[in-house]
Amino acid sequence: MTQPSLVLENLTKSYGKNTHALKGIDLTIHHGEFVVIIGPSGAGKSTLIRCINQMVPSTSGSVRFDGIAMEKAKGKELRQQRAKIGMIFQHYNLIERTNVIKNVLHGRLGQMSFLQSSLGRYQATDKQEAYDLLVKVGLEQQIYKKAGALSGGQMQRVGICRAIMQRPKLLLADEPIASLDPKAAETVMTYLKDITTERELTCIVNLHQVEVARQYASRIIGVRDGQIVFDGQSKELTDEMIAHIYSGKEEQIGTPAMTYNEDILVYE
Ligand SMILES: Nc1ncnc2c1ncn2[C@@H]1O[C@H](COP(=O)(O)OP(=O)(O)OP(=O)(O)O)[C@@H](O)[C@H]1O
Ligand SMILES: [Mg+2]
Repeated sequence: MTQPSLVLENLTKSYGKNTHALKGIDLTIHHGEFVVIIGPSGAGKSTLIRCINQMVPSTSGSVRFDGIAMEKAKGKELRQQRAKIGMIFQHYNLIERTNVIKNVLHGRLGQMSFLQSSLGRYQATDKQEAYDLLVKVGLEQQIYKKAGALSGGQMQRVGICRAIMQRPKLLLADEPIASLDPKAAETVMTYLKDITTERELTCIVNLHQVEVARQYASRIIGVRDGQIVFDGQSKELTDEMIAHIYSGKEEQIGTPAMTYNEDILVYE
C-alpha cells in the first residue's frame, strides 16, 4: 500500500477561547481520491481546508501531507509543501486586468526563480501547457481576453487551469461553485473531476450542494459542529444521514453558502 496523500490526526482548531471550529478530526485521504466535504454553515469545512495548508494554523493534532507534518513545517519546507497544494477559490482570485493565459501562467510562479518570475519570463513549455489546458476547458476563444471580462463559470475554469499549472499533488477547493448558476456549476465540476482524474490528483472540495456532492465525489465527508459525522460513498449517504448532518439547519441543504469573503487570504 502506498503512503496516503494526507493524514489528519486528532486535529483541532479554536479561534480564541470559545470558538472550537474543529474538535478532533481523524481523516486519511489516499492519492487520487475526489473527496467532497458537506455540512451546514459554520460546521468547520473552510477551517478544515485551511488547516491542511496551514493558512490557518491548527491548534493541536497533526496534518501529515505527502509524508511531512505541515504544522511543524516552516520557511522553505512549508513553501515547498504549499507549492504541492493547488487552491481553487469561490471568488476565483484572478487578476482581472491581466489576460487569461497570464493568469494561468501565474500558477508556475512558485516554482520559478525570483528573477524569472519578476520579469515574467515563462518557458515555452509552460506557455504551451497553459494554452493546452485552456483549450481543454473550452476557453480557446478567451485566451487573450482580460480575465475580468469573463463570466463566473469561465473565470473558475481559469482558476482550475492556474491551480493545475502549479503541478500540484493535492487540490483544495472551498465552495468553487457557490457563486455560479447550476449550468456553469456543472461545467466547472465536470472539468475539475475530469482533469483531476486524468492526472491522478487528490482533490478535496467543500460544497453546499448535496446533490452535486453525490454526483461527483468518490467519497463524501459530512462535517457537523467541528466533527466528522459521515464518511462514505455517495450511495451510502442516505436521506436520514443528510438529515443528521444538517439537523436543525435543513433549510441549508442544497443552498449556496452565505459566506463572508475570506478569499483575500493570499499564499505567502
Ligand atoms: N477567522 C475566524 N475568526 C473567528 N472565528 C472564525 C473564523 N473563521 C471561522 N470562524 C468560526 O469557526 C466556525 C467554523 O467556521 P467555518 O468557516 O470553518 O465553517 P464552514 O463550514 O466553512 O461554514 P460556511 O458553510 O458558512 O462556509 C464558525 O463558528 C465560524 O464562525
Ligand atoms: Mg466555508
